[in-house]
Amino acid sequence: MSRTTSAIEPSALGIEPARPGHVYLLGGGPGDPGLLTMRAAALLQTADLVAYDRLSPAEVLALVPADAERICVGKTVGRPGWDQDDIGQLLVNEARLGKAVVRLKGGDPFVFGRGGEEAIACREAGVPVTVVSGVTSAVAAPAAAGIPVTHRGVATGVAFVTGHEDPSKPESQMDWDALARFPGTLVFLMGVGNVGRIAGMLIANGRGPDTPAALVRWGTTSEQEVLAADLVSIADEVRRTGFASPAAIVVGDVVSLRDVIGDVAPLAGDPAPAEPLLSTLSL
Ligand SMILES: C[S@@+](CC[C@H](N)C(=O)[O-])C[C@H]1O[C@@H](n2cnc3c(N)ncnc32)[C@H](O)[C@@H]1O
Repeated sequence: MSRTTSAIEPSALGIEPARPGHVYLLGGGPGDPGLLTMRAAALLQTADLVAYDRLSPAEVLALVPADAERICVGKTVGRPGWDQDDIGQLLVNEARLGKAVVRLKGGDPFVFGRGGEEAIACREAGVPVTVVSGVTSAVAAPAAAGIPVTHRGVATGVAFVTGHEDPSKPESQMDWDALARFPGTLVFLMGVGNVGRIAGMLIANGRGPDTPAALVRWGTTSEQEVLAADLVSIADEVRRTGFASPAAIVVGDVVSLRDVIGDVAPLAGDPAPAEPLLSTLSL
């Protein structure tokens, strides 16, 4: 049977070209370019200027027109990134020049992406700003490794937590007691260098040392790597294997579901094993 393609107009889906004098805070997704939203793709294809981060995938940047300006405002090895105030100022100044400005961020712009600060900078300057949500690595990286962040009967909630507190803060703002007692999955971003402290504080505050934990590096991409261990030994495993960022750290019983589901991202390897493992899973 032959199939016909849909005749839905892009505008009916809310997909439109980038407007002059406007700032778009775009979520670029977790790395797999197939997880970019259609709206984000259309805006990138029509931008005059794109300010992007170090982790922005090359395939996503390839959508930017050849004659558009590209500015990397993220940190690169040996070089600090732009100051946050300067990024806000750049977006405002370029929009005021009448350019269609796209600020491309990894994952979702409002999940540890400082997108809120950039939205406020635009609002305060009276520059129109639109937020285009993206697929966050906090969900997509575990998912690609066969770890659903919630699962009926296993985890009824999930908390996204920074693994890297601002070092300029005089005291830790983390409520380790509440995090240890949280009745669900914990996902730490930006935490690879701190995994020993994270695991230690959770255990010291009552989380079981045998709680399953995993790190998912470059989740959803062809570079994806997964390291799983119980909470008490995860930091030693990270050190022993030299596991590096960027990775999402997942803590909770849902990590055991990986034994059944396996790698399931299109770019991240072979499909899940075919054996009927469900009956062997104990959680
Ligand atoms: C500054 S945060 C930005 C998070 C982003 N806004 C999001 O929603 O995914 C950067 C951190 O996100 C995580 N991250 C980003 N991409 C990732 C990926 N493909 N796999 C695993 N973790 C990733 C890492 O913890 C990294 O240190």
